[in-house]
Amino acid sequence: MITLMYISCTEDRPRAANAHVADELHASLEAHEPWISPKFLYDALGSKLFEAICELPEYYPTRTEAAILSRHGAEIARVVGSGTTLVDLGAGNCAKAASLFPLLAPAQYVAIDISAEFLCDALTRLRQRFPHIDMHGIGMDFSSRFELPPQVRSARRLFFYPGSSIGNFTPSEAQAFLRRLRLQCGSDGGVLLGIDLAKDKATLDAAYDDALGVTSAFNLNVLRHVNELIEADFDIRAWRHHGFYNPARGRVEMHLEAVRRQEVRWKGGGRTFEAGDTIHTENSYKYQQAEAIALLERSGFEATRVWTDPQRWFAVIHAQAIG
Ligand code: AVJ
Repeated sequence: MITLMYISCTEDRPRAANAHVADELHASLEAHEPWISPKFLYDALGSKLFEAICELPEYYPTRTEAAILSRHGAEIARVVGSGTTLVDLGAGNCAKAASLFPLLAPAQYVAIDISAEFLCDALTRLRQRFPHIDMHGIGMDFSSRFELPPQVRSARRLFFYPGSSIGNFTPSEAQAFLRRLRLQCGSDGGVLLGIDLAKDKATLDAAYDDALGVTSAFNLNVLRHVNELIEADFDIRAWRHHGFYNPARGRVEMHLEAVRRQEVRWKGGGRTFEAGDTIHTENSYKYQQAEAIALLERSGFEATRVWTDPQRWFAVIHAQAIG
């Protein structure tokens, strides 16, 4: 089953988790190798902790991407053109898209994020700064399947998927996701994709296990969120964060490790965790530039331009729909 929550910012505030979310969490927590989807990292507090991660000296992706957008903004705007329907996937605080508004001048801005409450607050502020842009906020889990509501213009859709969030998918899931975007964007649409490029292990390990422990708090917060969603009783103090690059699999992994044996209950079930047992909470795939372009090409897009930073740590790729 899919989870669609069209929570327009102008209407209701988000409601409690629905039955699909509970089913999904029960299945993943009861699996032989338990896991929690990274989308559950983003409740209101999780979104704030992620914002704090973006400020960390070790977490290079956000500032590297922002520098690329700022340095090449004029050229990006020339390639993309003004008057697009800018659909921001995982908009969060909307800062990246907003940085492009002056140059890009979109006809419409559609911000989508699973963290609906956080998104509403961000969008309220953004409307004051850019009152002339038509803006819509949608609280929605777009990771499995999604449809855009009728208010979203169909002409010249540009899907903005920054921050390398596409790395949360496996490469084959990423391809399926890009194909869905291709179907949603018609022949005059495109994507502007942020991709974190593969790099040395020490840099990646530090970025996902920072000295201050903000990433640890971000990871542990998923248990607090799960406690809320399914009335579970995870004791957050009994878990510890691991975040590291797994070069063999080309991805960063985040896990939570039980520091002692414990029984965890949730509404309608529960499970015993032994000391040392882990819950896998996130993958963050890193790509070579050529791999990312090939992925786009297998999904019905043609890369038109790639912008990178001098160290080639991060790439912003524009691709247009073909076929
Ligand atoms: C938002 C998915 C791009 O993978 O780097 C940051 C999330 N996890 N630190 C990433 C994250 C741990 C982030 N994305």
